[in-house]
Amino acid sequence: MQVAADAAEAALRGFAELETTLGVVRYAPLVAIALQVGAQTGRGGVITQCALEEATELELGMRGITAYAETISVYGTEAVFVDGDDTPWSKAFLASAYASRGIKMRFTSGTGSEVQMGDAEGKSMLYLEIRCIQIAKGAGVQGLQNGSISCIGVPGAVPSGIRAVAAENLVASMLDLECASGNDQSFSHSPMRRTARTMPQLLPGTDFVVSGFSGVPNEDNMFAGSNWDPEDYDDWNTIQRDLKVDGGLRHVPEKEILAVRNKAIRALQAVYRHLDLPPITDDEVEAGTYAHGSNDLPLRDVLADLKGAKAVMDRGIGGLDLVAALEKGGFRDIAENLLAVLRQRVAGDLLQTSAILDRDMQVQSAINDANDYAGPGTGYRPSGERWEEMKKLRHVLSASNPENEVE
Ligand code: 5AD
Repeated sequence: MQVAADAAEAALRGFAELETTLGVVRYAPLVAIALQVGAQTGRGGVITQCALEEATELELGMRGITAYAETISVYGTEAVFVDGDDTPWSKAFLASAYASRGIKMRFTSGTGSEVQMGDAEGKSMLYLEIRCIQIAKGAGVQGLQNGSISCIGVPGAVPSGIRAVAAENLVASMLDLECASGNDQSFSHSPMRRTARTMPQLLPGTDFVVSGFSGVPNEDNMFAGSNWDPEDYDDWNTIQRDLKVDGGLRHVPEKEILAVRNKAIRALQAVYRHLDLPPITDDEVEAGTYAHGSNDLPLRDVLADLKGAKAVMDRGIGGLDLVAALEKGGFRDIAENLLAVLRQRVAGDLLQTSAILDRDMQVQSAINDANDYAGPGTGYRPSGERWEEMKKLRHVLSASNPENEVE
């Protein structure tokens, strides 16, 4: 319930992609379904992934329960190239499996992983990472999530390490790969260092400046905590406004947020009912609508849920079943959104570099919206409607509006 509500809210606030992972891996199908339903409630066309071990992640993608994949990890040492299950060959094969179903995917890599695993073969972190970036390019993958990611504690602890992280993001862009610049895992309790670490990506822009801006509070974050949390939404919006830099988010009035959170859980309730999964009660809908985190929700019967999750896998339930369930449950608009996302895998346009589905359900990618930066005064700058939207902060008051919120 919380995943669905938070996904809907995040989609409404501007996230173009949503990712989840799990504390209990067998919950995966239910969590992935909740994320998908929530995303399509918040803003049709937001694509979702569920980060898991490779086989399950691929299966959820092939079934259409998720719409893209990431955390297909590559590493840069000679030893990894020739042994184990993370060789470039096995990852290229995996990449082809996703491409065969028209599913967007990107590799993941970043400085520090080889050091953290205890064998950097005497090479610099950046050297090893540049090899990873080239592997992504060589495998024909459209993009890379990089920028140390979960290993940020390592470059964060050595001189000039954060500079190396900026350098790896730059190299990914130079190789014309989608650059989902990590900026995700928390690496410091200092708000200033956390913010400073983000600037080399935010100011010039990357495809996803913060791939891993948490949509859930820290205590619920199964990725071990993010550099940016829901508590930072207002600050993020203000930083965008201050610097006139588009970081992807916007302020949404509270009543719209509550409405979409409530609708997402009711839609999930209908899907559960249709698929004969353990019921979602009206009390849970109410609690989830206003919940900040899972501590605010009633406890579930975990065993019953896990049986339901297993049934989803055993019965071969896929994306079209979710569409049917939404339609039968009276959520035709959400069903149509999900169907449109599923249809994309036939078109294959989301396989292009830096592809997203925009608010009009159109694919934007490096093909039809190329990076045209060619020095000062060129490239993308927020303007028009988007700039007006960015200026509307929660704390900006209106003298004419009695509720004092700028609409
Ligand atoms: N290199 C490679 N993969 C990484 N991941 C995170 N950081 C890195 C990195 N530096 C991937 C791993 C992990 C998931 C959360 O992201 O697959 O399980």
